Order: sequence, then structure tokens, then C-alpha cells
Amino acid sequence: MSETLTVLKLGGSVITQKDQRETVDEASLARACDAIEAVCKDERLVVVHGGGSFGHHHAAEHGVSDTDGSTDASGLTAIHRAMGELNETVVDALQERGVGALPVRPLSVAHREEGTLDLPAGSVAAMLEEGFVPVAHGDVVADSGRGGTILSGDDIVVSLSRSLLADRVGLCSTVPGVLDTAGEVIDRIDAYEDVAPALGESEATDVTGGMAHKVCQLLDLDVPASIFDLDGLERFFEDGTAGTVIAGGGSD
Ligand code: IPE
Repeated sequence: MSETLTVLKLGGSVITQKDQRETVDEASLARACDAIEAVCKDERLVVVHGGGSFGHHHAAEHGVSDTDGSTDASGLTAIHRAMGELNETVVDALQERGVGALPVRPLSVAHREEGTLDLPAGSVAAMLEEGFVPVAHGDVVADSGRGGTILSGDDIVVSLSRSLLADRVGLCSTVPGVLDTAGEVIDRIDAYEDVAPALGESEATDVTGGMAHKVCQLLDLDVPASIFDLDGLERFFEDGTAGTVIAGGGSD
């Protein structure tokens, strides 16, 4: 097995039907899992998935976002449980293909303090060491002075990529990349100012922000990150050039 470590996020809108409550997009999940099965024989992989129609509807109902908290334990639990169901579905689909997927549930270990996320990565690192594929999900987390807030899959990707010193990062989304004002995929982004005019907001209910937020977070990483759609997933695994490559602070 190569030492390369990839952190891949499967966007909630890729693996669920985002406008239809708690509905998995079976065909898309199967495609993603097939691609993961092929690659994880040769390299270490951490999978993170978003909420889609499992997380965001519950979060909106309980008035919870990444900044708006709630002290309603049953509401927070409803969000966490829905995410747990989706996580089970993803883990099962991977295990059916012989992938050693293990669930990672952030609520039990992560928290935010003054806006800063603390997500210990020791268990994930140990799973990788033992040849497993950790599968974490966007979740609710305790947040100092706010009760509980939403921890997005993107935030988990950024945090784990840093702590585990990932070699590459991929966000599999429903768009083929970051689009310019003419609707064409931008091949490479080195600075946020270059793309600021082109970045709009995500259309469906999404409590953790759209493309602009993703690009800013990924630019802050030390390694290259790519945003692509399901059609680009295999290419991303092959050579990392799918969709839009976001240079990251450590590259030239
Ligand atoms: C949201 O995670 C998780 C919850 C709402 C609990 P993300 O923000 O990463 O989800 P997607 O990928 O946009 O659906």
C-alpha cells in the first residue's frame, strides 16, 4: 500500500436527493463507492460525507447552523441520528464492496471553542494504520456558549487533512468544478480575488454555506485540493487533475 493519504468528501447533494427528505441517491452512492473500492487497495483514504437531505432539513427545522446554536438536546440528537443513518448507509455500501470502512461520529469527540474546532484525529490515524477506511460525517458539536452547532463535512476535511498531513484533498460535489461567470470550469485557483466575482450561493437549503466558503477553506490548506463532480472522481484518484484544482498555501 502506498503512503499517499487522500481525504475525500462526498457532498451531501451527491449521495442524497437533496430536496427529498432523507432519501439516498442510490445510483450516485454506488458509483462513488465503486471508485473508492478501486483506489483504496493502493492508498490510504479517509472519507467524509455531508448531510444532504439527512442533515440540512433537520438542522433548518431546529434553527441550527454552523454559527446559530441550540440548547435543545432532542433537536440536536435528531440531527445527529439522521446523520448516523446516512453514515450507516455509506459504511454498508463500502463494506458490501469489501472496503474496510469504519464509522467516525464527530459529536462524541469534537467541539468548538470560541469558533475554533478541536477534532482529535488519533482514532482516525489508528484506523488508517490498521488498514481501515474511516468514514466521518458532518454532525452537530458542542460549541462554547452556543449549545450545539453544525460541524460541516468541509470543516472536518480541512481539520483532518491538517492533522493527518494528507497528500491530497478532494471534494466531490454536484458541479464539475468552480465555474466562472460564463459557466466554464476554472482549471486552477491560486487566490480568492481571482474568482470572487464568479462565486454565488448554493441554491438548496444549506446551513453551512456554498462554494465561496469551500474555496476559501481549501486555499488555506498546504496541499492541493480539487473540486469536481462524480464524473471526475476516478480522474481525481488517478492524477488529481479533475475539476478545479485549488492551489493551497504550500504550493507554488
Ligand atoms: C452538514 O454537512 C451536516 C449537517 C447538516 C448535520 P455539510 O455541510 O458538509 O453537508 P453537505 O455536503 O453540504 O450536504
